[in-house]
Amino acid sequence: MRITMVGTGYVGLVSGTCFSEFGHEVICVDKDQGKIDRLNAGEIPIFEPGLDVLVAKNTKAGRLSFQTDLVSAVEKADAVFIGVGTPSRRGDGQADLTYVFQAAKEIGQAIKDYTVVVNKSTVPVGTGRKVAEILAETCTSDLFDVVSNPEFLREGAAIEDFMRPDRVVVGAETDKSKKVMEAIYRPLSLIQTPILFTSLESSELTKYAGNAFLATKITFINEIADLCEKVGADVHSVAKGIGLDGRIGGKFLHAGPGFGGSCFPKDTRALYQSSLEFEAPIKLVETVINVNESRKIRMADRVITACGGSIDGKKIAVLGLTFKPNTDDMRESPSLDIIPTLCKAGANIHAYDPEGMEEAKSLLSDITFCKDAYEPLEGADAVVIITEWNEFRALDLDRVKSSMKSPIMVDLRNIYEPREMKDLGFEYTCVGRQA
Ligand code: UDX
Repeated sequence: MRITMVGTGYVGLVSGTCFSEFGHEVICVDKDQGKIDRLNAGEIPIFEPGLDVLVAKNTKAGRLSFQTDLVSAVEKADAVFIGVGTPSRRGDGQADLTYVFQAAKEIGQAIKDYTVVVNKSTVPVGTGRKVAEILAETCTSDLFDVVSNPEFLREGAAIEDFMRPDRVVVGAETDKSKKVMEAIYRPLSLIQTPILFTSLESSELTKYAGNAFLATKITFINEIADLCEKVGADVHSVAKGIGLDGRIGGKFLHAGPGFGGSCFPKDTRALYQSSLEFEAPIKLVETVINVNESRKIRMADRVITACGGSIDGKKIAVLGLTFKPNTDDMRESPSLDIIPTLCKAGANIHAYDPEGMEEAKSLLSDITFCKDAYEPLEGADAVVIITEWNEFRALDLDRVKSSMKSPIMVDLRNIYEPREMKDLGFEYTCVGRQA
């Protein structure tokens, strides 16, 4: 199959590269000449483990290429994927579809023969039909079909998620477009991956419903963690206990500082906004959004309480800035709520993150960035773990303790054992557990 991917952001680049790894011929198109030049020079603009190797391999094999010219890329394609950004619109939180519609317009002008136009961007219900209307302005209806094919990629595990997904969801309504999609995903059918064919609307909604459900699961366990702290229960035991029920499942029950990232916050807001527009308000999702937002800010109080009620003039070490490990992505990271609140309360923040500091520098002012995990600990009054990077899981705790002015640790990801930390002489606070 010949595939064109419009947009070389996170979704476009990972999906395009993985399609070429399936053996398809893929052209990735982006308007940003600088980005295309960097990709052609073998430079990967995002941090995603394993992506560089796959890009190099498939470029070398001649199956993957990058260009700015959309017209020639669309003319050659059996399927054109739209993988452009759909950021939250200012004001109402609905997904901003400017880039999707612009891409649709340009694709419509370039189509010569029958082409399947596939929406991979996360778009509200009804967008597929609007894309079809835009295409119809410049193309006759026999020249295209519109399909919805949402992605379910986790940053940091995106290659694995693409190559071995739990399922593939395809909203396709004609036999012709279904055949093209079946051919594209044949390598996954061969390894028994369920390919679920649905209507456009069902497919579009599946993506939002899936993310909102996972965000709800996280928010639920976070609130259970708060209750655990009051009643003396351990959230790990409770999560395990409920997760062993096959109807609930053990994943996404890890209590922490609240969810962040490029998807959950944006997609829950957009789903709620859609539900209002269609007059079927999903109150549960509205609550999840509000509980999560206030939780991120409230995490700073834990640090202040752990430090005896005041952090004015104190040195606080922060380990981890990104919204989760194995990414350099800072979008909606809890650190962006916690750190400014600590600064406002008078703390001097010294922080380290393995990958996120470049991006963090433009988002967080008045903090000192350090070269490794131990530097911020020198003379610190307390340390806060915001992201569970592997390298923080195995710190030399004697060295940590002796570097610090006082051995106060606030572990917002529960990466250490409360009892062991107590035995080592730390004043240890975590989430939903106690020694
Ligand atoms: C998510 C979805 O998992 C993916 O399917 C979708 O396509 C995009 O959004 P991603 O944002 O990369 O992926 O990260 P994910 O691993 O899902 O974590 C999201 C946030 O939830 C992070 O801030 C993470 O720390 C938090 N989280 C996750 C928890 O607090 N507890 C958990 O148990 C799981």
